[in-house]
Amino acid sequence: MAWPAYQKLLSSLSDTPSHGVTMGDLLEDRDRSERLQFAIDDMQIDLTRQTVTQDQLHMLLQVAKEAEVMQKCHAMLDGKMVNTSEKSPALHAHLRDPSQPLAQASVDIMASHLDRLLSLGITDVVSVGIGGSDLGPAMAVSALSPYQQGPEIHFVSTIDPSQMGDCLAMLDPSTTAMLVISKSFTTPETLANMTMAMRWFDDADIDTSDRVLAITANPKKAKELGFVDDAILPFDQGIGGRYSVWSVVGFGLMLAIGRAGFRAMLAGGHAVDEHVLSAPLYQNAPVNLALMRYWNVSVLGRQAEAFCPYDQRLDKLDAWLQQLEMESNGKSMDASGNRVDYFTAPVMFGMAGGNGQHSFFQHIHQSAMVTPVTFLAPLRPLMSDANMAADLVADHHDQLILNMLAQADALALGDANDPGFSGGRPSTVITWLQLSPYTLGRVLALFEYVTTMSGSLWGLNSFDQPGVELGKIRAKNYLDIYKGKAADDLLTATTKSLFHQLKELKDSLTNKP
Ligand code: F6P
Repeated sequence: MAWPAYQKLLSSLSDTPSHGVTMGDLLEDRDRSERLQFAIDDMQIDLTRQTVTQDQLHMLLQVAKEAEVMQKCHAMLDGKMVNTSEKSPALHAHLRDPSQPLAQASVDIMASHLDRLLSLGITDVVSVGIGGSDLGPAMAVSALSPYQQGPEIHFVSTIDPSQMGDCLAMLDPSTTAMLVISKSFTTPETLANMTMAMRWFDDADIDTSDRVLAITANPKKAKELGFVDDAILPFDQGIGGRYSVWSVVGFGLMLAIGRAGFRAMLAGGHAVDEHVLSAPLYQNAPVNLALMRYWNVSVLGRQAEAFCPYDQRLDKLDAWLQQLEMESNGKSMDASGNRVDYFTAPVMFGMAGGNGQHSFFQHIHQSAMVTPVTFLAPLRPLMSDANMAADLVADHHDQLILNMLAQADALALGDANDPGFSGGRPSTVITWLQLSPYTLGRVLALFEYVTTMSGSLWGLNSFDQPGVELGKIRAKNYLDIYKGKAADDLLTATTKSLFHQLKELKDSLTNKP
């Protein structure tokens, strides 16, 4: 959507810091610094290192108004049919609103199964799911491991047999439960993994009727595959996979950290909902973060975004964010079905910054391609063993945070004595006091809004994912061909030769003396 204010922005490019005004000048401007810092309680969002002037920010806010970002956000929160292609609402925020029946019902059904599984003496849970049925729960369980009080949760997602094999090899079937998580309950990898695990339970003569649960928006399909009502945790079709960690899809997290911890994560997410609904546009943190993504991608042509949490517990946050942004906004058709003539979602990549700065930061600092970086970190460490040497814990964590700030400032200011460090490389710095279920919920909800609001700026439907289907359909056709159920005219020449290699290998393995 080339909004009228968008044209004005393009013409303002001569003011950006790389054209005369330096980043150092901008960072010294106190008024600008105040305008580019936001807060949600102890969570501070610092956009001062973004290469944008106050006038350009003012024009960006005009784009947000023309794109009706807040109107579209209210429509989503009011349960309107914002997913126009699938004729569905997007209800994930309702799951963290205690006044919504959807939220209470979701927590209640999880809590009842939690009590029941614990009463069975379950020590380990295999969580089978992929994409949005895996990335959110796996990230949250990993991030909140110091809050672990329940059974160990093991995540198996791909059809690579080694993943399920390595997982089951460590477990005792008599004290293991399984969650089969799939919104559609048709995803081949998930159903195949379910089959392999059920074979494992059967080989151990385990009655699984009270410890294998289906978590799905398609209970009918789950019943066709043998699940009874009491073994199904249903969720609403209006919950998108990549937005579903707040729902029963997050049951593995409640098993791991308990119902109070899960409720705290919901509350943290809801705090962002309340901020979004109460803060004026120019103080609205996700609106301004979305505008920065729009500014970098669609105005300045920066087509990637690095995401570097300076907290090793948040190392899986990148994978969750990649699906959230790239599956929501990696599109070239707008919500009305028109082709867009500008770039939309950036390529999201990254890793925990403590490692990342020793991996891809050469590119971030000196590539001809400028990549905005999002830095985020809690200011206090979260230790699983409180007996670690407190002086060293404090010193090491201080060094971690100082590294993050040094990287952000080195990117922004460069080195006047070295033309290889030009400065003016943008970043956002987000900090909060300490990682907890509540503060993790805030971070997740914040970036959900950044994605949906960026989608509004680009005129997209951020809630469907038509682009994932073609590869899946071809994979199913290839399986039919491989099994001799269909002709091989679909195959390219090189694929055909690999088919033959695969078959010869398989025959040689199965015919091994
Ligand atoms: O292929 C992409 C996708 O459809 C994601 O959108 C989804 O999160 C994932 O596959 C798993 O789908 P399901 O939860 O239906 O198994």
